[in-house]
Amino acid sequence: MLTVNNVNLHYGAAQALRGVSVTAEMGKITCVLGRNGVGKSSLLRAVTGQHPVSAGTISFEGEVLNGLPPYARAKHGIGYVPQGREIFPLLTVQENLESGYAPLGRKDRFIPDEIFSLFPVLKSMLGRRGGDLSGGQQQQLAIGRAMVTRPKILVLDEPTEGIQPSIIKDIGRAIRYLRDSTGMAILLVEQYLDFCRELADQVYIMDRGEIVHEGPAETLDTAEARRHLTV
Ligand SMILES: Nc1ncnc2c1ncn2[C@@H]1O[C@H](COP(=O)(O)OP(=O)(O)OP(=O)(O)O)[C@@H](O)[C@H]1O
Ligand SMILES: [Mg+2]
Repeated sequence: MLTVNNVNLHYGAAQALRGVSVTAEMGKITCVLGRNGVGKSSLLRAVTGQHPVSAGTISFEGEVLNGLPPYARAKHGIGYVPQGREIFPLLTVQENLESGYAPLGRKDRFIPDEIFSLFPVLKSMLGRRGGDLSGGQQQQLAIGRAMVTRPKILVLDEPTEGIQPSIIKDIGRAIRYLRDSTGMAILLVEQYLDFCRELADQVYIMDRGEIVHEGPAETLDTAEARRHLTV
């Protein structure tokens, strides 16, 4: 299980996270909802080691991760699907997937078949350049690349952003499959309430750098959630 405990994060003098505490359990989908600019990506940057925290602790399976660089966290089993996907546009789909080999030992350096059963389109496009894929295909590739690293927890930053509804459904199915088949933990940040409600086991709502609601998805008050999601 991943535990974010009382974390502050700053960009210079500007504070983006204020005493944020979130846990993501194995075999569960944890969703953090919040509108533009409330600190969702900052939370994931803190978890993945892209940006240092100024207070609090981040631990995974009982081990404190503060101070570890991103690649060391990847080795610990934290898989990251960044906002905007960050596919290498000039590398092929195959090469983009292989870029996930970095934290792996030699014997694990292959692309698991599971990725192609979840996203068959990637198999048919292995030789294409990443930059030639549609937004939805790039999102599938970004999830595939994170899966190559054999994560124990998958951390996704707005996977539905700018993606057509049919592919959003595929992505939702894939996330659910990963939870159910491998028992991995999923930590998802989103602005899209319905996607989050359909998928999540546990929901947090973030506003202006703080967690303002926490609870199981079944008891989420949709009206209250919408209030936080509209300016
Ligand atoms: N590199 C940075 N330098 C300075 N300020 C930053 C930086 N990145 C983010 N911020 C600020 O920190 C706050 C939180 O940003 P963050 O990117 O975490 O929000 P977000 O919830 O992910 O937003 P979005 O939904 O638009 O992706 C915002 O006010 C943003 O302007
Ligand atoms: Mg963001």
